[in-house]
Formats: sequence, structure tokens, C-alpha cells
Amino acid sequence: MGEKALILAGGLGTRLLPLTKVTNKHLLPVFERPMIEGIITCFLTAGIGPEIRIVVGGPHFDQLLRVYGDGSDLPVPPGCPKPRVTYSFQKDEDGIGAAMLCGMDHFGEGSPVIVGLGDNEADKRDVKRGLATFRLRGSTGCHLFLTKSLHPRELGVARFDKNKNLVEIVEKPKGRLPSSFTVSGIYMYDAEVWNRVKRLKKSGRGEIEITDLNNEYIKRGEATYTIMRYPWVDAGTAYGRELASMRRLRALDPKLYRQLLRELSETK
Ligand code: G1P
Repeated sequence: MGEKALILAGGLGTRLLPLTKVTNKHLLPVFERPMIEGIITCFLTAGIGPEIRIVVGGPHFDQLLRVYGDGSDLPVPPGCPKPRVTYSFQKDEDGIGAAMLCGMDHFGEGSPVIVGLGDNEADKRDVKRGLATFRLRGSTGCHLFLTKSLHPRELGVARFDKNKNLVEIVEKPKGRLPSSFTVSGIYMYDAEVWNRVKRLKKSGRGEIEITDLNNEYIKRGEATYTIMRYPWVDAGTAYGRELASMRRLRALDPKLYRQLLRELSETK
């Protein structure tokens, strides 16, 4: 049995308005399936789960429960056990750290956790590789996934010292970029995480920031990371969702994907 997964699916989805006015962002399509299935399938295939806790929130939190219930209606990747899904409710829009606290009861504070943002799309091969590193270290500390992104100022960005040690994550940097590596929304933590996240204070934007949590691990020398080799995308923007859809189609049906490209480029 793999580690328990915590999927964060709260928030208002403001970046996708008006689409999110009546629909939960995580149920908007990435090609033929709801967005949230991307990260769940990726986790299951990488060997995480089958216990999955989804933190829901925002005006349409109930839609996820209606679509997935106990997880019976989730597609099960070949060779994976059937996922068992439960839910926690996040009342306020107070950040990823706060969302983690909502799901904490499920983990009894005593176990490691693999966290995934419900709008992130990653490749299972990267997650598998990172998971192997995390497990090799006895599932201690925290393990992050770094990737290059076209929109670093909208993300956390890694800062390294001269010896390429990760020394800090700068959240949404304004000035000079500390590096070209951004932090994706997949995080692996040891059981200490629950004590640490409880001690965090809200940031200027009124949120309990996951970056503060990660910086705490980094400061103590307990953070490791995987540089992703495959595409990662935050599908919570119009561009990101389109990109994720195209990639999904390419993986699913390369012929149809090529046809789509032809249709896009052809002049009549
Ligand atoms: C959050 C994290 C950020 C990370 C991003 C990944 O950003 O704070 O460090 O790069 O997720 O999707 P937010 O979605 O809160 O803007």
C-alpha cells in the first residue's frame, strides 16, 4: 500500500471566471475528463494511495462529492487498486497550508503525506522518481518537484547557492528571478509536517503559505528535490488548461492530435 494522498481542491477559481461561476474549477475539462483526475491518476499510477483525501471548498464544493462519491467513479489506471476517497471541507480561502490543516484529521498527525494541487498536471514518471528518492530517505523531510515554467512570477521560484544547494523558495518574485526553476504543486512530507504547518502564520495575502512550510524544511536542511523531466502545468488558467488538454490528447490519440494540428494550421 502506498502513502496517503491529500488532494487540494478548494478555492474560487477566479482565474477561470466566468467558467467557474457555476462549475467547480477542478471539474472543468482537460480534454475528455475533469481536471482533477489528472493529478489523481498520476498519483495512483506512481504508487501513491489508494487512500485519497480531497479537501473541497468554495461555492461549488459539493459538486466534487456528487461526481466522485467514495471514489467508485474514478477511472482506475491499469494495475492500480481501486481508490478510496474521503473529503474534508475548507471554509475559507486561506491558503494551501490551511487546506492541509483541514485534511489533517484523516492522517492522525502521525503519518507522511503526499500533497497534490487539484489543478496540477504532472507526468507519473517524474512523480515516481521523486517518490523513490523520498522513500529511500525513509520518507523523512520534504521532497519538492522543480520545473521550468514560462510564468515563473506566478509561482514559487527556487534559489540555490554556489554549490547548487536549494537555499530558499521565493514566492512570486517581483525583482530579479533567483533561478529558472519553479516549484510545482506536488509535495511529499514526513509526519513532522503537521506540527510545522500548525505553527505557520498567515502571510500578507491572508493565506497560510505552503512556501513558508517548505522554507522551514529547507532552513533545517531537510528538503530534497526532483527536477522534472516531463511537462508540468498548472491547468488553473485558460492557457494552462488548453495546454494540458492538448497534451492529454497527444498521449491518448496521437493520430487525432496530429489531425487537430493540421486543422489549426491549414488554410482553406
Ligand atoms: C502555489 C504555491 C507556489 C507554487 C504553485 C504551483 O501557488 O504557493 O509556490 O509554485 O502553487 O501551482 P498559488 O496557486 O497559491 O498561487
